Amino acid sequence: MTALGKLFRTTAFKLTLVYLTIFAMFAVIVLVYFAWSTRRLINEQITQTVDAEIVTLQDEYDIGGIRRLIFTLDARSRRPDSYLYLLTTAAGEGLAGNVGSLTAGVLERSGWSETAYRKLEDLEQTEHHALVKIVQLSGGFRMLVGRDLEERDRMHDVVISAGRWSLAIVVILGIAGGLFVMRRVLQRVDAMTATTQTIMAGDLTGRLPIAGTGDELDRLAGNLNAMLERIEALMRGLQEVSDNIAHDLKTPLTRLRNRCEEALRTAEDEAQYRAALEGTIEESDGLIRTFNALLMIARAESGQARDNMRDFDAAEVARGVGELYEPVADDKGLVLTIDAPAAAPVRGNRELVSQALANLVDNAIKYAAPAVVPASSSPEIRISAACQGDRVLLTVADNGPGIPEADRARAVERFVRLEQSRSQPGSGLGLSLAQAVAHLHGGDLRLEDNQPGLRTVISLPRAGPGPAVAGDLARLQPPASAG
Ligand SMILES: Nc1ncnc2c1ncn2[C@@H]1O[C@H](COP(=O)(O)OP(=O)(O)OP(=O)(O)O)[C@@H](O)[C@H]1O
Ligand SMILES: [Mg+2]
Repeated sequence: MTALGKLFRTTAFKLTLVYLTIFAMFAVIVLVYFAWSTRRLINEQITQTVDAEIVTLQDEYDIGGIRRLIFTLDARSRRPDSYLYLLTTAAGEGLAGNVGSLTAGVLERSGWSETAYRKLEDLEQTEHHALVKIVQLSGGFRMLVGRDLEERDRMHDVVISAGRWSLAIVVILGIAGGLFVMRRVLQRVDAMTATTQTIMAGDLTGRLPIAGTGDELDRLAGNLNAMLERIEALMRGLQEVSDNIAHDLKTPLTRLRNRCEEALRTAEDEAQYRAALEGTIEESDGLIRTFNALLMIARAESGQARDNMRDFDAAEVARGVGELYEPVADDKGLVLTIDAPAAAPVRGNRELVSQALANLVDNAIKYAAPAVVPASSSPEIRISAACQGDRVLLTVADNGPGIPEADRARAVERFVRLEQSRSQPGSGLGLSLAQAVAHLHGGDLRLEDNQPGLRTVISLPRAGPGPAVAGDLARLQPPASAG
């Protein structure tokens, strides 16, 4: 598209055109009104003065008869810049005055009329126009008194030509101003387009230029920049996650492969092959678990899991998870206590919440269990569910080694396993899932010091009457029928 074509297609140009048309129409209306009212004013002035003149002349006629009127008219006709006068007999024969010729038929009409005329002394000159009044005098005489209209017409011409000029100036200035504004807008839009093209080409660091005027384009650019900032952060996160996944799945896969190779090389009898195969199945199960955890996190983070939001009792979930892990805890010499006496209503995905809680209990058992099972005073793991204001808190507390404060934020990230727990199996996804589930429900996951040990808390919005339910849960489907 040519530069001019681009200019003509801009909104600014179309707006300029609309404003210009409206303005020009307005100017024309004002002009017509002005011309019309000056004309009316001059006409009024003429009729007033002519009427007054007629009154005086009629007085003269009443006092001194036709002779005196003829005498007065002759005298007045000779004055420079005088009125127009004509006195005739009933037959139309001229008696006095300064009018030489008139438009035919004017004299026969009484009252006001506009007529062309020539003065008596310059009959060969061009015609002029006049506004005249004809009165019938007693005795059959007719008298015409009038005023030349040249002044009025000149005034009219002046108004019209001034109007034309101002209209032309309005249009020219309007177009020039419009072009100036359009060029500025176009330049900025072009700069924005150029930046978006580099962004589309893959450079996410590009930002739209901001002129600093605080106008609507600046606000738009500001918002788009904020959006780009967010997209860039998300992309970086995604990149890190996929790097982590690739890296952390490579190790178990390599291990799996090496185990098979080793078996092929060294196994001699069926028993050894069987043992090797069992090992690979175990390793594969670990991989499948990791994939499942990743999928669950992805589901929770993308909000897909919102489809299964229902009202349920978190206390019941806590009791269920506790009972499930009791034998395992027992085996490891841990005392597991469950403290969930009262109902703790939550609206959400029951399976995900219970998986998140199970992850926390699993951690507590894995990392807080003593190396040697003590003979007395067993270490304790405490699972509790309780309401606190408009929140429901699901807590798992142990008194193992805990996590140093500096490491707590990191421990929640995907695939992060702290140095001291490398001896335990795991892929570093348990806390990530718990956090993703908490966020999905409009809540959060906190790691706290249990002095000694770790206390992990999943805090969720409490369901039930009132505005306690998190904003984006509120618009979800109604609770499932009881049961
Ligand atoms: N109760 C706890 N006591 C001490 N350290 C803990 C505890 N819970 C978690 N951690 C530390 O936080 C790390 C991350 O925990 P997370 O549950 O995310 O992964 P994981 O337990 O190592 O593996 P996964 O849960 O995927 O099997 C753990 O590796 C461990 O170092
Ligand atoms: Mg874990």
